[in-house]
Amino acid sequence: MRNNQPITTKEKTFSAATKLISVTDTQGNIVECNDAFVDVSGFEKHELIGQPHNTVRHPEMPAAAFEVMWSHLKAGKPWMGLVKNRCKNGDYYWVDAYVTPVTEKGKVVGYESVRSCPKREDVVRAEGLYARINAGKKTRSWPISFENSFLLCAILAAAFILALGFQAASEIALLASVIVYATMMSIKNNNTIAE
Ligand SMILES: Cc1cc2nc3c(=O)[nH]c(=O)nc-3n(C[C@H](O)[C@H](O)[C@H](O)COP(=O)(O)O)c2cc1C
Repeated sequence: MRNNQPITTKEKTFSAATKLISVTDTQGNIVECNDAFVDVSGFEKHELIGQPHNTVRHPEMPAAAFEVMWSHLKAGKPWMGLVKNRCKNGDYYWVDAYVTPVTEKGKVVGYESVRSCPKREDVVRAEGLYARINAGKKTRSWPISFENSFLLCAILAAAFILALGFQAASEIALLASVIVYATMMSIKNNNTIAE
């Protein structure tokens, strides 16, 4: 994960009519971009062409957002989402990105991103979501999630009860644990990034 520095707290904005466009090869290297993208990014065009797209990555963008984006693109599907990018001087700009595969004769030859100025309320929502994701990443110290730890303990407890000779109790404990686990997972999935 590339960590472009320095960063400032100064936001750069652009008009609602402006579209920031870039095209990449299948590896995510920039092969073309429009003047508006160059202008807002603060880079010279020759500093962008041929470079990986993470040249404009802002360190506060969670890796998970790009993982979801790439999984859509690799599956031949478009992806939409809010992205915070870093300008060359460290300032930032938010974009509402629509990224699609580019095909030639039915074969994917690259990807294109068309970015517009996002609504303020969407920026506020994305800021909150990305901050929560980043905070979760930093504070997690146990490698297994709480839900999976719970299931593991429940299976061990059921095995222990079975070993004591209480088969029915063991089966009931296991069934109850699976129901609790499924409920926790469905609550968790509702709180993560929508695909
Ligand atoms: C068409 C296209 C446009 C992209 N635009 C951006 C962008 O504006 N900002 C960005 O940080 N990453 C963008 N990416 C994603 C980057 O390729 C990369 O996955 C991301 O910056 C994370 O890189 P890293 O994990 O190596 O740091 C784009 C990818 C594609 C295919």
